[in-house]
Amino acid sequence: MIKVAPSLLAADYLKIGEGIRRAKDAGADWLHFDVMDGMFVPNISFGQGILKAAAGSGLLPCDAHLMIEKPERYIEEFAAAGARVITVHAEATNHLNRALHQIRECGCLAGVALNPATSPDCLRYVLGDFDLALVMTVNPGFGGQKLIPSAVEKIAEIDRMLKAAGVKAEIEVDGGVNEANAAELTGKGATVLVAGSAFFRAQDGAAFVRNLKK
Ligand code: DX5
Ligand code: ZN
Repeated sequence: MIKVAPSLLAADYLKIGEGIRRAKDAGADWLHFDVMDGMFVPNISFGQGILKAAAGSGLLPCDAHLMIEKPERYIEEFAAAGARVITVHAEATNHLNRALHQIRECGCLAGVALNPATSPDCLRYVLGDFDLALVMTVNPGFGGQKLIPSAVEKIAEIDRMLKAAGVKAEIEVDGGVNEANAAELTGKGATVLVAGSAFFRAQDGAAFVRNLKK
């Protein structure tokens, strides 16, 4: 079963609650929450206070994507704010194994994100330590970019790696996902699709979610 996770980054910030409600009513599974620090990525977005409010609404599980340097500094805070999934970038920490265990110890699902130019090889040494691998199909930092085709094959590589090791984990794809490319991504093994601008631009959110899950 494919999960769809609308990214709050593309919502109207004056109406965040309505954006979350729209995602819920459309049949989305998770709310994707992009945290940016202006260091790991050039942009700054929002933090644990907004996530706490979103999680407190009880509408959708919050999927926190931490695009921040040394994410281990904030894992407890995002868990306490109510995140269900916490994903850190392999490029942002010197201690990926430790950070993943820290996330699980907080009772959350642990995710590892890889930038488009990062090899999936680093996952080999943490197989079994994560619940989700996030394949970035744009350079992180901004919504509304076009998917980078060369990053797509990584989905299949990770899928093969997980199957060969007999390890179960979600493969989430983030960046430039839309109704035209979703089937290719799920065909390669993606199980969670993040959509920001395409979801919030869609006239009919429920039809959009259905089409992504096909
Ligand atoms: C990019 C973020 C994405 C972004 C996706 O740094 O991680 O989650 O919001 O937005 P779209 O779907 O517009 O590419
Ligand atoms: Zn994201």
